[in-house]
Amino acid sequence: MWILGVILHSLYYISPAYCANAFAVFGGGKPIDSGRSWRGKRIFGDGKTWRGLMMGIIAGSLFGLIWFYLSKSGPLDAIYFNVFDFRITDPLFGLYLSVGAMIGDLANSFAKRRLGLKRGAPLWGFDQLNLVFGSLLVAYFLAPTFIIFEEFIALILITLAMHLFGNQIAYYTKRKHVRW
Ligand code: CTP
Ligand code: MG
Repeated sequence: MWILGVILHSLYYISPAYCANAFAVFGGGKPIDSGRSWRGKRIFGDGKTWRGLMMGIIAGSLFGLIWFYLSKSGPLDAIYFNVFDFRITDPLFGLYLSVGAMIGDLANSFAKRRLGLKRGAPLWGFDQLNLVFGSLLVAYFLAPTFIIFEEFIALILITLAMHLFGNQIAYYTKRKHVRW
């Protein structure tokens, strides 16, 4: 049962970051770096737009706000095993996680451009985990509650596993040409 707590609470905690990440794809328009380069390479590239950034932050913040209200009652208004605190006392909880996720995403694109990778070129591991590291780093400093180390490890494994699983589906439905 303890492992169930690790999985459920960690996913619950990071859910606004996943939400932000999912909604950022509805971006488009003006890129954040305005087309500027640094040392001959784009700062972030055309894949990072202001609209995507705002979409992600708004969606993640609203998602966190829903949890904020729901956590005032029912099974979410509780601490399980004296460890897994589901109570969200800060309405800005979702904002912290989604801003962190977007910072992680920008940092990832910045690093990819420095490595000479074009927009959309995959950087395995980094593309998947930047949202975990970015969101948790910001939440660690700003949010009133945090996760335990085991949950951090679980989130890394779950995030990578979800992408592998998603890619298998994309591969078999012929929407993707490689399995990973
Ligand atoms: N997107 C956006 N603004 C953001 C983040 C994402 O507009 N801040 C949109 C872009 O259309 C982007 C798509 O979501 O192409 C997918 O996001 P992501 O995979 O993070 O970007 P990539 O296109 O793969 O670019 P990069 O190589 O920089 O990761
Ligand atoms: Mg990408």
